[in-house]
Amino acid sequence: MAYAAGVDVGSTQTKAVIIDEDRNIVGRALIDTGANVVAAAENAYSKALADGSVPEEEVKYVVGTGYGRYRVTFGHSQVTEISCHGRGAAQIFPGTRTVVDMGGQDTKAIRINENGDIDDFCMNDKCAAGTGRFLGAASVALDIPLGDLGATALKSDKGTKISTTCTVFAESEVLSWLGRGKRIEDILWGVHQSIASRSLSLLRRVGLNDEITFTGGVSRNTAMVKALEDRLETKLNVSDDCHYMGALGAALFALDHILAARHPHETTEASA
Ligand SMILES: Nc1ncnc2c1ncn2[C@@H]1O[C@H](COP(=O)(O)OP(=O)(O)OP(=O)(O)O)[C@@H](O)[C@H]1O
Ligand SMILES: [Mg+2]
Repeated sequence: MAYAAGVDVGSTQTKAVIIDEDRNIVGRALIDTGANVVAAAENAYSKALADGSVPEEEVKYVVGTGYGRYRVTFGHSQVTEISCHGRGAAQIFPGTRTVVDMGGQDTKAIRINENGDIDDFCMNDKCAAGTGRFLGAASVALDIPLGDLGATALKSDKGTKISTTCTVFAESEVLSWLGRGKRIEDILWGVHQSIASRSLSLLRRVGLNDEITFTGGVSRNTAMVKALEDRLETKLNVSDDCHYMGALGAALFALDHILAARHPHETTEASA
């Protein structure tokens, strides 16, 4: 049995996934990327190998993705995270036509066709206002751990309207609402609603086609799922695998290489 691996070195967190030949996830790992990007890729990969009890020599191909994909020094090739999130989403939710990937730094809207190929995509430019960073700023200002943001925001029945569109100013706006006596849950829900509105305009630019799959670390935030679903007026595909979707897509591209090397004629005929 050969294995394939994908390592998604994101701006904030690094994810690694090992799959078997049947495309099942057998090992996974998630760590903070930190300042040493090369070490982050290596650490996430060895943790995923250990998680799946897979000997390194049985992994025949590794694909790197994410902003640090060229720092995956042991990787055999690189694929963009747009393609990898699309591929991963199509694997877990085959009906996916639109992907919204919300990471630490970027939010991306991706349109895929029935084969899981990318038709179009667009992303927030150079501004983290619609991303995990914005939520991170709110979590610091309100002194609430990242993992508790969702549950706290969901206690609100009336979101405070957040007017700033800049992560840098988000913290001071949050503090000023606190000073004016707004409840923490209402401020937080307002922050989620503001991010959802920004994501909606991104999604509209690629076209909103059912089914929509939510990927990236922010998909773990239950309030963000709810805020997006409210705005979109539809249910989203979300699973525990969604944070690993880019790494899974990379592993699937890696498996393609392993299988193509075994059946070179089929590849030649298909491409002829
Ligand atoms: N358990 C959790 N609960 C809520 N939010 C979380 C959780 N874990 C991670 N996040 C959010 O996910 C973000 C990281 O997501 P992800 O790993 O997809 O980003 P990335 O790939 O490093 O960034 P990018 O794709 O923008 O380069 C964090 O900034 C945080 O806001
Ligand atoms: Mg990412």
